[in-house]
Amino acid sequence: MTPLRRVAGRTVTTIEGLTEEERERWAAAFLAHGASQCGFCTPGIVCRLVGHERKGADLQDRETVDRLLSAHLCRCTGWQTIREAAAEVSVDYPYRDLGQASRQASLEAGTQQIVGPEVVLGEISFADDQPPHNALVAIRNDADWAVGETLHAARESIGKVQGRRTSMESRPPLDLPPGDWSVTLRTGWVEPAYLETDASWCEPSGESSNPIANGGAFGGKTDSDVSGQAESIAAENGVGVRVLWSREDVVRYGSKRPPLSAGLNADGSGVIRVAKTPGVEEIIQSVLPRCEIEQIEVAGPPTSVALRAAGWAEAEMLKTGLRGYSDWVEAPSGARARAEVDAEIIRVEVESGTPLDLVMHRSYCIGAAHMAYSWVTSESLSVDDSGEVHDLTVRSFGVLRSSDCPHIEIVSVGEGEALAAGDAVFAAVAAATWLNRGCPSDLPTG
Ligand code: FES
Repeated sequence: MTPLRRVAGRTVTTIEGLTEEERERWAAAFLAHGASQCGFCTPGIVCRLVGHERKGADLQDRETVDRLLSAHLCRCTGWQTIREAAAEVSVDYPYRDLGQASRQASLEAGTQQIVGPEVVLGEISFADDQPPHNALVAIRNDADWAVGETLHAARESIGKVQGRRTSMESRPPLDLPPGDWSVTLRTGWVEPAYLETDASWCEPSGESSNPIANGGAFGGKTDSDVSGQAESIAAENGVGVRVLWSREDVVRYGSKRPPLSAGLNADGSGVIRVAKTPGVEEIIQSVLPRCEIEQIEVAGPPTSVALRAAGWAEAEMLKTGLRGYSDWVEAPSGARARAEVDAEIIRVEVESGTPLDLVMHRSYCIGAAHMAYSWVTSESLSVDDSGEVHDLTVRSFGVLRSSDCPHIEIVSVGEGEALAAGDAVFAAVAAATWLNRGCPSDLPTG
């Protein structure tokens, strides 16, 4: 992210340049607190924290660490476990079975996820890390693809300029159904904001690399076409090809949770208008069976119910708004959660069997709680009436910084088979946050 001219004449230290002692100590602390999940953000964060540790910064002071983290984005962990690792970076941690930790993380991510020092230290491969040496680069040019020998050449060939943010106000795209409702809700466009943008590479007649390298992208890459494109562009050109989505491609072409507008009566009947999306009607009606669902074509990015708890989290919020207090919500995985939220603390009870690894279980629950709180209070994407997206940088999505999120407390009470808990926690915290804000009609609530 830093232009080379800004570091001219300076020394740059990457994570590989830290001392062995620093690398081991920081990796141990991040592992012990579950402060890294997909790991895409982690080496940069470790480098910054070590740099300030060397200068004598007090890393046990939350304000100091919040300030240092404000230059970063971690979408998975919800920041809290990173602050905990920074505060306890010099502790001797006991042995822990990282195989079990990886299995717990994979259960939550819905795909293979590694937990180990190699993730913290940036030594695992992401989707674009090991392409064939002379691979061409293909980037999106609206509905088509521009191919060049390098990323720069591909961008130049179509005059592509990297992202921007806008001052255009975001607003929910669907009007409320007419009526005198007990509770109403309108949600707008939001970006899942996974950090590793969609990428895949392929040799001619080979098999393309998996765009999900170490984590599930919260369901956001479920419909990604980069693997298929890598195979067909490599076959067409007779050489290896890397297919890369830029951040703005992810915003424009990646799936979003379907925006909706809802009016409910006290008895749970009512009307929900929702952006037309396969499967959304069944999901909403699984929570609100008495509601009439109107699917409406909305101009904008594609929508999907694969995104974290899409549709049913909104339905649980409406149910909670009608009830007037937080209660248990149950995810399709069978996991249950209940949350209380105020300005100081987010308290979550989770019932999802006996976790295979408590640290990663807690890390995923904290990450889901932060994501829900951030979504309800702060996140939005400006999309105009023609469907064009105007917020195209990571900074413009409204993801809450470390300093802006209340402390999150997780209490796990289940036993038996371990279940993925993240979606239940997400829905429970979203509902409790909305309740705490007084159930205003429009998200984000502020
Ligand atoms: S662990 Fe930070 S973005 Fe995934």
